[in-house]
Amino acid sequence: MGRISTYEEAYEILKEYNKEEFHLVHGKTVGEVMAYFAKERDPENVEFWRIVGLLHDVDFEMYPEEHCVKAVEILEKNDVDEEMIYAITSHGFGMTETPNEPKKEMEKVLYAVDELTGIIGAAALMRPSKSTLDMELKSVKKKFKDKKFAAGCDREVIKKGAENLGMSMDDLMAETLKGMQEMEENA
Ligand SMILES: [Fe+2]
Repeated sequence: MGRISTYEEAYEILKEYNKEEFHLVHGKTVGEVMAYFAKERDPENVEFWRIVGLLHDVDFEMYPEEHCVKAVEILEKNDVDEEMIYAITSHGFGMTETPNEPKKEMEKVLYAVDELTGIIGAAALMRPSKSTLDMELKSVKKKFKDKKFAAGCDREVIKKGAENLGMSMDDLMAETLKGMQEMEENA
């Protein structure tokens, strides 16, 4: 699978470039949701998908203006293989300067779930339980429709992501919620 072969190694890289808890949690969350999707779609490569999710925003805290561009430099320096670098940077296609378009299913899933995990995570924090475990699809749908809620999470990107995957918005939201619930259950 290339030079970075374990999640632990990847997490060390993430921690080197990210000090804010929020960014570490976001990376872990997207990693677990990616792993959840991989179990059905690409079961031989679950760990690869998980690491791509974990590292997808590696450059964002330090280089927000060069997001998905600086990542190439950082990841090359840390011996991450090319396929992984392509996948990581492709989630910024159309929003950053990266020329890498999401092509593989893994890349399309990353593009689709990234912002959506932000909405679901913010919605969880509003609940008395502070958890996704007692959350239902209908409350995710409500938060999605309320554009003022977690306004930084771009609804159009999520819709485009679902379209790229040939998934309905309901299915994408349900699956992403399940992935986050599984992460909490295993924590
Ligand atoms: Fe992200």
